[in-house]
Amino acid sequence: MLKIAVLVSGGGTNLQAIIDAKIPNVEIALVVSNNPGAYALTRAQNAGIEAVCLSPKNYESREVYHDALLSCLQEHDIELVVLAGFLVNISEKMVRSYKNRIINIHPSLIPSFCGKGYYGLHVHEAALARGVKVTGATVHIVDEGTDTGPILLQKAVEVKAGDTPEILQRRVMEEAEWIILPKAIGMLANGEL
Ligand code: GRF
Repeated sequence: MLKIAVLVSGGGTNLQAIIDAKIPNVEIALVVSNNPGAYALTRAQNAGIEAVCLSPKNYESREVYHDALLSCLQEHDIELVVLAGFLVNISEKMVRSYKNRIINIHPSLIPSFCGKGYYGLHVHEAALARGVKVTGATVHIVDEGTDTGPILLQKAVEVKAGDTPEILQRRVMEEAEWIILPKAIGMLANGEL
């Protein structure tokens, strides 16, 4: 069994997709949110998964916060960390400690519409502003940069006339994110990636 932690900040639809996928040889051992109001915490509780909120606001510095986050993962013997809409930048110490064992889902086809400032709806606003006809999602390994690590899986999604950022965001989630994130976890757990 690969013990994974899923780190979240918001609604947790990607977390839900991972839960629903019932991935062979994977145990979702922990869900961590930085945001006490994240609905993702409720999703975890409903699924009987241990869920904790670690908010930077409750720590005297970012460094102390990041140490607490890393300790929490290590205490739970987490082997793979999944960033699923986690809006806190991961520390370099954590990247080193979990080298090649942190993955992230990004709602575009990297290297388009990624890097600093490209999160949430901003990604889809930028795709629509540029007029691309195809967008999608990417699962990648997290390194010290922002969205710069090796790409594991990608899936393309059509942009349609009349799309708003919200409509496009939903289509990218349904047709790409909720499929490739559980798939990548399963492939990593079963030695296929
Ligand atoms: C997703 O669009 C994901 O790609 C991005 O943050 C969003 C999280 O959504 N990194 P949810 O909390 O999984 O519903």
